[in-house]
Amino acid sequence: MWCAATVTAAGEITAARAWRALAFAGGGLLATLAQLPFVLILLGQGWWFVQEKLLFALPVQLLAAVVAVVIAAPPLLRLARAGSNPTRLPARVPTALLAATSAAIASVVASTLIGYPLEPAAAAVLTLLALLATGIGYALFARAGRRVVAGLAALGSLVLVASVALAWMTSMAPPDFAGEQASHASGHGATLAAGTGPDVGANSASGTGAASGPTTVSVDELRTPEDVPGPRRQFTLRAGTESVTLASGDTVQSWNYGSLPGPELRVQQGDVVEVHLENVDVEAGVTIHWHGYDVPNGEDGVAGVTQDAVLPGESFDYRFVADQPGSYWYHTHQNASRGVQRGLYGTLIVEPSGGIAEQHDVVVPLHSIGDSVLLGASDLPTTMRIPAGESVRLRLINTDGLPNTFHLDGTPFAVVAADGYELAEPPPVSAQSIRIPAGGRIDVAFTMPEGPVYLTTDASRTPWIAFAPGAAASAAQLGRAPDRSGEPELDLLGYGGGPAAVLPDGPLVRAEMVLDRNPRFLQGVPVNGYTVNGAVYPRIPSITVNEGDVVLLSVANRGWETHPMHVHGHHVLVLSRNGVAASGAETWLDTFDVRPGEVWEVAVVADNPGIWMDHCHNLDHAAEGMMMAMHYRGVTTPYEHGGAHDNRSE
Ligand code: C2O
Ligand code: CU
Repeated sequence: MWCAATVTAAGEITAARAWRALAFAGGGLLATLAQLPFVLILLGQGWWFVQEKLLFALPVQLLAAVVAVVIAAPPLLRLARAGSNPTRLPARVPTALLAATSAAIASVVASTLIGYPLEPAAAAVLTLLALLATGIGYALFARAGRRVVAGLAALGSLVLVASVALAWMTSMAPPDFAGEQASHASGHGATLAAGTGPDVGANSASGTGAASGPTTVSVDELRTPEDVPGPRRQFTLRAGTESVTLASGDTVQSWNYGSLPGPELRVQQGDVVEVHLENVDVEAGVTIHWHGYDVPNGEDGVAGVTQDAVLPGESFDYRFVADQPGSYWYHTHQNASRGVQRGLYGTLIVEPSGGIAEQHDVVVPLHSIGDSVLLGASDLPTTMRIPAGESVRLRLINTDGLPNTFHLDGTPFAVVAADGYELAEPPPVSAQSIRIPAGGRIDVAFTMPEGPVYLTTDASRTPWIAFAPGAAASAAQLGRAPDRSGEPELDLLGYGGGPAAVLPDGPLVRAEMVLDRNPRFLQGVPVNGYTVNGAVYPRIPSITVNEGDVVLLSVANRGWETHPMHVHGHHVLVLSRNGVAASGAETWLDTFDVRPGEVWEVAVVADNPGIWMDHCHNLDHAAEGMMMAMHYRGVTTPYEHGGAHDNRSE
């Protein structure tokens, strides 16, 4: 509107044209004011959604609009009323309208390019560019010399090029896990932070005495001791490339840990799990990350942070005590957006020391590879015979990058665990769907009825699992699984019972993750990045903690896509979603879906020192920036991004 008003008011104009310019300017003014109610609605969802609008976009637009109206409206009105010959209005008239145009453009750019938080430097650059554009306009309308116009244009280009170059250069710097965002309510970490902020990797030469402090520990020292007591359970996983023929006859080019999915690792609570990883021929390199298992940091399997990627011919040994029962999975954390999708994943089941309550234990990872969807290992329907009256535990594991929904037909069921942790007093439900975030796990339990039970998923109608009480019927005999895709979703946040969640004790640290999508440089490459707090990995300041802290983490999603946020080495206690306190059973998750517009408040107990990745488990989003660290003060890493092993932490 403002732009149309500017163009219409420039040059020699007639009365009719003056009316038109006035109409456009009026439209611009209305559009400016109309933003107010929307911004107020957004403000109701939280400051994160409107900061740049309230502090920058709206004031700048309002100011420019008022100036434009005050300066341009009277002369335009006079001309319009007079209705005489075409007249050229003074240069300040189109210039004032141009100022409003520039302000409007700067506002849109602030929302898309800067987002949250509003960077004062970026806002200053935008303001300067808007002023220069207005200045150039004035020089043109006033027919100032070409040198003035060229000078202003050169200055504007210089500012633009310099700020883009600066952004590009900063994006190339190596990760700095010590760069912090958390502020200590208690302040007891202040002395440590002041002098001994640990530098990372190649930077350590410039450290300010980090090496001298007794508080410094390398991720390499945060390993499970070799002599830790407990029965040994040893596994060897060989990562390789393989062309796999699926049940349907389709062939997929897979990278995997010896099979697709990788072998199920089933251990007992208290076992010492020792896994020898060998890379046969995965050129991109591999690692193993124990998703959801809170292992010591050095066993976490993140290339470039806790170890080097394992290249073909190399190996790595992981060891951890299986002290927490439940359903977990493992996958590569080197270039995971490619590796996991192609099949570098498997399941990890830790049986409780007292044994599993149910008589049958069925593990169902769901994975998409190529055009195929695998339920377990099959892309076709499968059947299992389970005698009527016997109890079943189904471990549903979403290893995909998108949320997936499951349906159970033919029986009521209870959700007995989420992300490995048991839920208290789970009531039976039926005709509700089970949605699992990318990376998440849900265990359901049911008693086998007299008729068949079907497990289906919205990911694909091709594979499903039928549980038949009688003699093992084939999938064909049982017929097609019923379509239950319309079922309402079971909401875990109000499900179950037991005591209400209480905030754990400890010094409180506040941290926030505001998720969005903004154009950024990702290590020098321009991308429409998935940002956290306005930045992409590795430029997102870490959440910095001391052991014992309780992190109150707010996660707000400003974007249009769901982000399954995953924390390494810890589980989060869900406190609220969109301001509504979590009710039902206390819920500890390691992966939670933050849908567009949602705000989650969760608590993390800092009880596992290290440098831990927190990231979106839509691994394509992680690869495009949505990944950061929770960093314990004093922990350093000798590993680096890239290097001889071409480490890629996502
Ligand atoms: Cu399942 Cu960092 O990942
Ligand atoms: Cu995401």
